[in-house]
Amino acid sequence: MDTKILAIDDSSLALSKKIIQGGGVVAFPTETVYGLGANAFDDGAVRSIFAIKGRPADNPLIVHVHKDYDINTLVSYIPEYAKLLAKVFLPGPLTMVYRSHNRVSAAVSCGLDTLAIRIPSHEGAQRFLRYLDLPIAAPSANVSKHVSPVTARHVYDDLKGKIELVLDGGKCNGGIESTVLDCTGEIPCVLRSGLVTADMIAQVAGECHEYVMKEGEKVRSPGMKYKHYSPNCRTALFEYADRAAAFEEYRKLKAEGKRVCFMAESAVMREFMPEDALDLGATDREIASNLYDKLREGERIAEIIVGVVPCKQDGVMVGVMNRMRKAFG
Ligand code: TXA
Ligand code: MG
Repeated sequence: MDTKILAIDDSSLALSKKIIQGGGVVAFPTETVYGLGANAFDDGAVRSIFAIKGRPADNPLIVHVHKDYDINTLVSYIPEYAKLLAKVFLPGPLTMVYRSHNRVSAAVSCGLDTLAIRIPSHEGAQRFLRYLDLPIAAPSANVSKHVSPVTARHVYDDLKGKIELVLDGGKCNGGIESTVLDCTGEIPCVLRSGLVTADMIAQVAGECHEYVMKEGEKVRSPGMKYKHYSPNCRTALFEYADRAAAFEEYRKLKAEGKRVCFMAESAVMREFMPEDALDLGATDREIASNLYDKLREGERIAEIIVGVVPCKQDGVMVGVMNRMRKAFG
């Protein structure tokens, strides 16, 4: 199969509609990462997402809708705090989990009685979703366990020959996946951290829990138990306090003739000035937005990436740290 990358316009949208209505999948941009979308009502199409990615069959998908879609048709109960949160944060990088009405394919939620819904703010995503006017089930558009894609080219590198169309909306500026928030209880609970932080949610909802898996408990966000976000090369991660040791390791590997890159925030780069730098940037948002792009760049040019965790580790950095630790194994 030939894989096309097309800018979002009337003709590529018409093609995407033809593909989706025919039970196929289309990759599309969001403000976080690229998604691999299929009609959430179509059982076969949803199953094909799992096959194309090599995704474990028990890891549920998020359904994406445009901002005027009536989600009451998909979920049975929306608590008051969720309505407040939606007013403040949507459209945006916040996915909310509700009790499902079981109208979409059972394959979307992998048998759970809940449904995760996301209203992306990316203009191209909104255009695509509005044009189709369907709930679109979509995981990140990478091969399972690989680094999530933040450009159309990243999607192409992972899925060429397996999908017909990538809608190109430029580089995703959020950089890490949406916050996943369980809204089925009396108090909202963050299942996956992201750009909308638990503090931001608590400010609007009054309270917000953060999910920590207890031993023996059934995992509430199945995605979190898998290895994830890993580049196709060797990696070594050092704590911020050990950054000098990280630089030593980088220098040693380089002296041995290895193709090695040093990944860290800008301040650490200025401290050590490595030749082979994967500079994550200076601010929280820059680091979040650059992480996946730099991991993909690293695996392309190096056989090993030596990374240093950022100094600051609260707010948005909770989500970044979570991805970084998983990426470096
Ligand atoms: O930013 C994003 O969320 C991106 C873009 C494409 O929208 N999507 C994304 O999808 O990251 P994916 O499939 O890579 O991650 C979905 C996460 C997984 O951790 C999954 O376990 C969780 O959402 N999830 C989905 N449905 C759920 C449900 N009903 N209950 C609990 N967790 C759920
Ligand atoms: Mg993913």
